Amino acid sequence: MEAMAIEVHNLTKRFGAVQAVQDVSFTVPAGSIFGLLGPNGSGKSTTIRMLCGLLRPTAGSGRVLGLDIISQAEQVKARIGYMSQKFSLYEDLTVFENLRFFGSVYGLTNRELDLRCRELAARMKLEGRENQLVGTLSGGWKQRVALASAFVHQPRLLILDEPTAGVDPVSRRIFWELLNVLIAEGVTILVTTHYMDEAENCHLVALMEGGRLYAFGPPERLMAEEGLPTLEDVFVRMATRGGQPFA
Ligand SMILES: Nc1ncnc2c1ncn2[C@@H]1O[C@H](COP(=O)(O)OP(=O)(O)O)[C@@H](O)[C@H]1O
Ligand SMILES: [Mg+2]
Repeated sequence: MEAMAIEVHNLTKRFGAVQAVQDVSFTVPAGSIFGLLGPNGSGKSTTIRMLCGLLRPTAGSGRVLGLDIISQAEQVKARIGYMSQKFSLYEDLTVFENLRFFGSVYGLTNRELDLRCRELAARMKLEGRENQLVGTLSGGWKQRVALASAFVHQPRLLILDEPTAGVDPVSRRIFWELLNVLIAEGVTILVTTHYMDEAENCHLVALMEGGRLYAFGPPERLMAEEGLPTLEDVFVRMATRGGQPFA
């Protein structure tokens, strides 16, 4: 696998007069967990949708798992696991029916699906609810079903858009434990969040504000460089500095 799981250069997206993402550049080494932080409307989802091959950039370029996000968008979609902000599950299907559906989209055979569903139920802590309708599950359970669905084809890169928004603290904790197991197995993860405390679980973080990236690096280094005790302090200082944004 490539040394860099994600590489973007001057990624830019305009929607009419709205500059949603502006000159964003960063690289994420394979096997690391990268947290993209920023308030609502800062451009996180737009950045992610360009990385997933779902949205064509206005300008700039990028490679994901070595694939070009513009000319090889279809291969990018097939190779990565993506969990969208709204979880995109079928509420009127059971947990297993959802996993089987997403697995069949990725071309798994019936035999592979049976094995994979049982394996995912155990790994993603879904046991006991395999045949329950997803619409009747709590937010924390839905979140784990969505993670299992994104991981059904065993992608080497997971892109998760605000997976913990609106989920209770216990479920958030369980979810981060699951992510740490995946990281230990060498999966690369990009996760967006507006919870600053979650950034401290990441090897690398970036702050977005108004479509621009204001800081990028390991959380400890960013705190040490600014001489501040928390990432929240660093980000408040960077976002209010009004100077030259990072990259
Ligand atoms: N399809 C779209 N059409 C027009 N404006 C959009 C579209 N998608 C996002 N935007 C705008 O781009 C900006 C960034 O949005 P988004 O990437 O969703 O931010 P975040 O995920 O950080 O909340 C916002 O101002 C949003 O309203
Ligand atoms: Mg968003």
